[in-house]
Amino acid sequence: MAKLIDGKKISAALLEKVKADVNELKSAGTEPCLAVILVGDDPASQVYVRNKKRTCEQVGIKSIEHLLPKDTSESELLSLIWSLNNDKSVHGILCQLPLPSHINEKTVLCAIDPDKDVDAFHPKNVGHIVIGDAELLPCTPAGVMEMLRYEGISVEGKNCVVVGRSNIVGKPMALMLLAANGSVTVCHSRTPDLSYHTKQADILVCAVGKKDLITADMVKDGAVVIDVSINRNEDGKLCGDVVFDEVSRKASYITPVPGGVGPMTIALLMQNTLTAARLNVIHSENDAESGDKVD
Ligand code: GUN
Repeated sequence: MAKLIDGKKISAALLEKVKADVNELKSAGTEPCLAVILVGDDPASQVYVRNKKRTCEQVGIKSIEHLLPKDTSESELLSLIWSLNNDKSVHGILCQLPLPSHINEKTVLCAIDPDKDVDAFHPKNVGHIVIGDAELLPCTPAGVMEMLRYEGISVEGKNCVVVGRSNIVGKPMALMLLAANGSVTVCHSRTPDLSYHTKQADILVCAVGKKDLITADMVKDGAVVIDVSINRNEDGKLCGDVVFDEVSRKASYITPVPGGVGPMTIALLMQNTLTAARLNVIHSENDAESGDKVD
């Protein structure tokens, strides 16, 4: 029977650490601040944004919400982002996705100052992830890496299979596993024989959004199985991509849904906001120093 990787427990430990570091930064004169933008009234997005606000309160990060109507124009949204970019008291900016269809997501994500980009979705930050020198990492895959680290699961030399190639999870997940010296395969909707690949996996990460996609016959004995997706079954209950009951009898470690990767994502968002606030302090000090030299 697999050991359960408890995202609630691991995220609580991480949040305690973030809280202590936030306090230290506050004592040094900087109050970390996250601005969250939500356009429209998508109920799932409203829940996510509420949870982010609540977790900010828990760790002592100041949060500012901008709840905009669904007919907000792209230029109005861009104006808000520019004003937040220029606001020195704001360290992190997050624009909740998906955006209404009349707004170009790429234009919006590119408008966020890369140093305040706590999602790490800006192309500049994606480039840093590719090179392997990123300060800000996308929250969900970074949360998965933290779970592996916490459980003492080494990635080095392991066959890692990522199912799903989204910009938010699949692609950065593959890059982070590669940076940790895993041998990485990325599978997607056009992969002809998915189970051929999943059966090779020592570490299997599923991020497709399709319930019952991964069955026990697709998993190697003793594999580590990480289920990123949050779906609903016929009874309206939350479930992932993995058939938990049967796969947990074959895997060595498995994440549950809910209570697995989900709580990690929000903890890593708090960590990124703290990092962005620290970067801001360092950059301000550097600016002040170079100003001295000019004098
Ligand atoms: N919508 C679903 N997941 C995410 C996320 O990680 N960041 C943002 N900004 N929007 C999301």
